[in-house]
Amino acid sequence: MATAGAGRDSVVIALGGGVTTDLSGFVAATWHRGIPWIALPTSLLAMADAAVGGKTGVDTPAGKNLVGAFHPPVAVLADLSLLATLPPGEVSSGLAEMVKHAIVGDERLLDALVAASGAVRSVRPGVLGPLLLRSVAVKASVVARDPEERDFRQVLNFGHTIGHAIERVSGWAISHGRAVAAGMSVEAGIAVRMDLLTPGERDRIREALRRLGLPAEPPAGLGTDAILAATLADKKTRAGRVRFALPEAVGRMARGPEGFGIPVPIEVAGRELASL
Ligand SMILES: NC(=O)c1ccc[n+]([C@@H]2O[C@H](COP(=O)([O-])OP(=O)(O)OC[C@H]3O[C@@H](n4cnc5c(N)ncnc54)[C@H](O)[C@@H]3O)[C@@H](O)[C@H]2O)c1
Ligand SMILES: [Zn+2]
Repeated sequence: MATAGAGRDSVVIALGGGVTTDLSGFVAATWHRGIPWIALPTSLLAMADAAVGGKTGVDTPAGKNLVGAFHPPVAVLADLSLLATLPPGEVSSGLAEMVKHAIVGDERLLDALVAASGAVRSVRPGVLGPLLLRSVAVKASVVARDPEERDFRQVLNFGHTIGHAIERVSGWAISHGRAVAAGMSVEAGIAVRMDLLTPGERDRIREALRRLGLPAEPPAGLGTDAILAATLADKKTRAGRVRFALPEAVGRMARGPEGFGIPVPIEVAGRELASL
């Protein structure tokens, strides 16, 4: 940017997947202490999730999410025809985040995704476009209510506590989307064990995942003990409890006495993992 002579009046345009939008947004946040940026996401995950909400950052050898800034783009423009070249595994990752948004805040979106699963999985722009807009609307409304993640925004972590553990235990052989899908299934089961969610709603979530070609259980052979150990290593545990964002119904997240991060005894998570 220095070589190009980019001054305070420049604009960063991010054309790429979530890695690109995260990096470009961070450059825009810090160049001249902040210049505008425009996101042109090219992956379904970036269109549905990463390009929206203002979190930007870069990974460093010291860890994920240590270096970053809240700096929303001035515009997000998604051209769905770009998705024609996206590999199937990357489509699954985007779909998993869309399912997450439905469970967080748009019950009918889950039914609509399932009803159109064939067209959705083959990323037909005419069918996918309106559903993508609804998914983005959920994320935008969560972020508008709690831009800097003081409490409510953590509902967007649904499926990610167990999901990250699955990614780690697999040595990143499992894609983010498939890990988060399995994570949402496990965490829905945890919500039932915590008396927050009915078994019927849990099964509805699992059926939707399967209909969309996403896994509803951790991959066989990973070992539930290893996933539980990775969950504990990843999360700060307090008095043997891990905080989860949990649904109380499709479309509504549970709020506990301490907010939207619900403390769950580790044995409860262990029992759910062992049951799958
Ligand atoms: N800032 C946020 O709120 C937020 C939210 C979710 C995820 N993220 C971040 O987003 C990143 C994941 O995003 P991602 O899944 O887009 O990863 P990515 O940017 O690595 O893209 C995935 C792969 O798809 C390729 N690709 C992108 N668009 C393509 C297209 N149109 N055709 C063919 N190939 C294409 C990329 O080159 C890459 O190989 C992670 O780093 C994650 O931390 C950020
Ligand atoms: Zn995610």
